[in-house]
Amino acid sequence: MASVDLLLRNVRIATCVDDECSVSASSFVAITAGRIAQIGAMRELDPKLHVGNELDAEGALLTPGLIDCHTHLVYAGDRWREFELRLQGASYEDIARAGGGIRSTVQHTRDADAATLFAQSERRLRSLMQHGVTTVEIKSGYGLSLEAELKCLQVARSLGARCPVNVRTTLLAAHALPSEFDGRADAYIDEIVQRIVPEAARAQLADAVDAFCDRIGFTAAQTRRVFEAARARGLPVKLHAEQLSNQHGAALAAEFGALSADHLEHVDEAGVIALARAGTVAVLLPGAYYFLRDTQPPPIELLRRHRVPMAVATDCNPGTSPTTHLQLMMNMACTLFRITPAEAWLGVTRHAATALGMAATHGTVEVGKHADLCLWDAEHPAEIACAIAASPLRVRLHHGVEHAV
Ligand code: NIG
Ligand code: FE
Repeated sequence: MASVDLLLRNVRIATCVDDECSVSASSFVAITAGRIAQIGAMRELDPKLHVGNELDAEGALLTPGLIDCHTHLVYAGDRWREFELRLQGASYEDIARAGGGIRSTVQHTRDADAATLFAQSERRLRSLMQHGVTTVEIKSGYGLSLEAELKCLQVARSLGARCPVNVRTTLLAAHALPSEFDGRADAYIDEIVQRIVPEAARAQLADAVDAFCDRIGFTAAQTRRVFEAARARGLPVKLHAEQLSNQHGAALAAEFGALSADHLEHVDEAGVIALARAGTVAVLLPGAYYFLRDTQPPPIELLRRHRVPMAVATDCNPGTSPTTHLQLMMNMACTLFRITPAEAWLGVTRHAATALGMAATHGTVEVGKHADLCLWDAEHPAEIACAIAASPLRVRLHHGVEHAV
């Protein structure tokens, strides 16, 4: 190797390649053209190596950059009044049925112009990045019309172009029934299938297609039509599945080879087996579970037994998970769902990359992968999963470039 752009010295690396998240002895990482070019023990470092920049980490912990594989961070307005209502006893489903919930955010999001939406969303994105996120998935789903859904996806794409972070976009037009389609859910599905999916695909604004399959969302039959439209355009699918009830969405997602099935509090063993066979990632969202005071956690033991890869994400949204703290979600997944710190780490790195179809290039510290990395003042990865909201992040690297946190 002739020359490198950036040399990280004296790092202890948790590559997230092994399931235990083990930590290496003192090592170096050489980065060229935004990719990891070489990794080795400090004693193997060639003293004649021609180096552009150098960073002596003095024994700090190096991990893959964090990947938040499920967010709804492009929206306008807020929902704190609804939080107060729920504290007085109203349920999430009651509020949704009374026209609040997702629909109230839809109104604010439709009313906001792209610049306002960008500014409000960028604040949340910057906060995610401060917590170590180098890749984020952003869903639409608060527009619910062709024009407003495309506006949200365009804002998500601009966020990716203007901020040092990778953005993957997901079209979630089947998030809720917009009021102009009241009583005509199948007509709205026609609109999604005939116009919204084709237009989003044509404009290359969506990397995947998602739906909310539940009592207050769409039926499995309606979800199937959305998935067929996605497949016809060559777009991979994901699904909000079995969050509030078991609609057998996980099996449906698996049938379409979904990248991920998300939430899964009410999935049964048949659904878990289907996910395992399809290689679909189970995305755990402890923020929504906590905020809705749910009492049925996802069946972790079943997911483990059938070797379904588990990811952990923020679900950042105003109604059920108003958070941008992915590290805290690791802690909550351990505390509330009883996964191990190592599982939580794989959930925000390697398995999160798989949930976005990015496993070949992201999610681990390996030669050839993108140099999206985090440097922590921590002894061990478990220390970061153990901490409640403390953030020992020192440096975040996106594509080999250092960013202050
Ligand atoms: O992932 N479950 C549906 N969608 C979001 C909530 C959206 C909202 O309430 O605004 C979720 O939890
Ligand atoms: Fe969600």
